[in-house]
Amino acid sequence: MVVIRESELERYPDWSSIFKNKNPVYLEVGIGNGEFLEWIAQNNPDKNFVGVEVSRDYFKKAVNRILKARLKNVRLICTEGAKALCKYFSEESFSGLYLNFPDPWAKKKQSSRRLVNDFFPWLLQSRLKLEGTFVMVTDYEPYAIEVVENFEKCKAFAPLWKEGPLVYKLENYYQTKYARKWLSLGKNLYYIGFKKVKGLAIPKEVFKFYPLLEISKEDPLPLAVIESKETNLEKVFQGLKEGILWKSGDQVIKVLNKFTGKDSILLDTVISEGSFRQRVFVTIAPHRDGLIIKFHDATNPEPTRGAHRLVALLCKEILSLLPASKVVQHQCKKGIWQEVFSST
Ligand SMILES: C[S@@+](CC[C@H](N)C(=O)[O-])C[C@H]1O[C@@H](n2cnc3c(N)ncnc32)[C@H](O)[C@@H]1O
Repeated sequence: MVVIRESELERYPDWSSIFKNKNPVYLEVGIGNGEFLEWIAQNNPDKNFVGVEVSRDYFKKAVNRILKARLKNVRLICTEGAKALCKYFSEESFSGLYLNFPDPWAKKKQSSRRLVNDFFPWLLQSRLKLEGTFVMVTDYEPYAIEVVENFEKCKAFAPLWKEGPLVYKLENYYQTKYARKWLSLGKNLYYIGFKKVKGLAIPKEVFKFYPLLEISKEDPLPLAVIESKETNLEKVFQGLKEGILWKSGDQVIKVLNKFTGKDSILLDTVISEGSFRQRVFVTIAPHRDGLIIKFHDATNPEPTRGAHRLVALLCKEILSLLPASKVVQHQCKKGIWQEVFSST
């Protein structure tokens, strides 16, 4: 199967068993209509290629193209690029990343949305094998300059070409429709290339920006069980707050909507942490002599620090709504639990 659904893809999959060979794996993020991927996979049958695209419409176009070309060395995932790097590629697991015309977010206010920011080279060096490569092409000079600066700050990388990390022409490199368009308008293209020359420990702030990096294969989802003399769901439902539950810097936990049925409460919630934002559903339901608070698995929730914090915050709120109640079991990170319960 060319397409791999995220719901069927485990954390850190064994790519050699997916491709049924031990050939090196390369990744392209933002494959658009898939023309570059088709070209590179066709010309390198001894290499495997994973293509990632966040837009469903583009993804469909790429899928059709790759299926038509009957390429056995390509797999496609419809997801966000940084998430794919954190979740589907373990340390030193792949050989190269291609980025062709990543969205430049040219407006000043939006530049923080760029995929390749200060943190990105650190994430990439942890996932790339030694000698693994990064090749990017853009038409937007300020982004090109910023990317070179960001990579130069991360000493895991050295320029890929003898001319340096930035060149204006790259022989034998496929020109996608964006390249063709900009060249026909007489614009410059900027090719950026780096190679991993050593592995470095990931700084703490990088983990904070990419919270999925902290999650291992075995990490369970947080949950909590409350024992209570009175399990009045209606009272809990009325008392639970909607809106922002917690905020610190760029980290936000917000209840968008609350719903109640006969047997449970459902909270539609957003957790934003660094570059990662997840929409999750939490259920609060009767359980033994009390209530259980847990994630609904419909949206594939990730057990990030924010997810742990959300369960702890809800527990605290419920304890204040049901006076004769106590937590009898929880699966939340100790430090976060203590932080939530010690804050006023
Ligand atoms: C300007 S287009 C370039 C498409 C293709 N690489 C080409 O050169 O024709 C950028 C593509 O990247 C995708 N994209 C943007 N940010 C992404 C991200 N963080 N993860 C995955 N895809 C992304 C967009 O949906 C879009 O298809």
